[in-house]
Amino acid sequence: MNSPPPAIQQLTAPSSSQNSARIKWNKRYLCNTDSSPAFEPALVLLEYAHLLPGSGRALEVACGLGGNTLFLARRMFEVDAWDISDVAIGRLIQRAGQEKLAITAETRDVLRHPPAPKCYDVIVVSRFLERAMIPNLIQALRPKGLIFYQTFIKDKDPCVGPKNPAYLLGENELLTLFSRLKVVLYREEGQLGDCHQGLRNEAMLVAQNW
Ligand SMILES: C[S@@+](CC[C@H](N)C(=O)[O-])C[C@H]1O[C@@H](n2cnc3c(N)ncnc32)[C@H](O)[C@@H]1O
Repeated sequence: MNSPPPAIQQLTAPSSSQNSARIKWNKRYLCNTDSSPAFEPALVLLEYAHLLPGSGRALEVACGLGGNTLFLARRMFEVDAWDISDVAIGRLIQRAGQEKLAITAETRDVLRHPPAPKCYDVIVVSRFLERAMIPNLIQALRPKGLIFYQTFIKDKDPCVGPKNPAYLLGENELLTLFSRLKVVLYREEGQLGDCHQGLRNEAMLVAQNW
């Protein structure tokens, strides 16, 4: 496929909290190697890809290295990918360029600059939780649009994922946060039964706009 080069856009005038988040995440991505598994899509997208429409406009919020973005772009979605880390966005653009995938990647604070209403057929969020922007994500879906969400839960192995409880989901919380949508699937297994099997440490949801 002959595609235009991936686009990047730097929004102006970052605030000091935006700067500190950017610096923190840039440091983490600079420590990452190119073979990092973070170029992989989240399980919620990988296992439930059969729920995706055949084409459309997609957004990955807080994309990091953009495993979900690359996955969607390979399936010919028109993908916007946003993250506060310019290092992560730079690496994503490089990877997309190597694969000749057309994506639009932006260094962007999604809290200050949430998506506009009714723009996307698919939105993906993995390992990022900012409850305040959930209403913006719901509004950003087009009619029948889908959200794929996967992130850490409180009932997890303490050695895995963030320690700050503000970034961890409570029981059934994704169901509550997206209660305005039609739930297609929800998985949260916590520490139930044999923890060597199943989905541990995270919850996942796919939900559809009416
Ligand atoms: C744990 S990483 C997850 C990255 C990716 N979604 C994944 O699953 O591999 C969290 C990401 O959120 C980004 N992030 C944190 N605050 C943000 C904000 N306000 N706006 C945009 N991105 C943000 C970080 O730069 C980081 O890439």
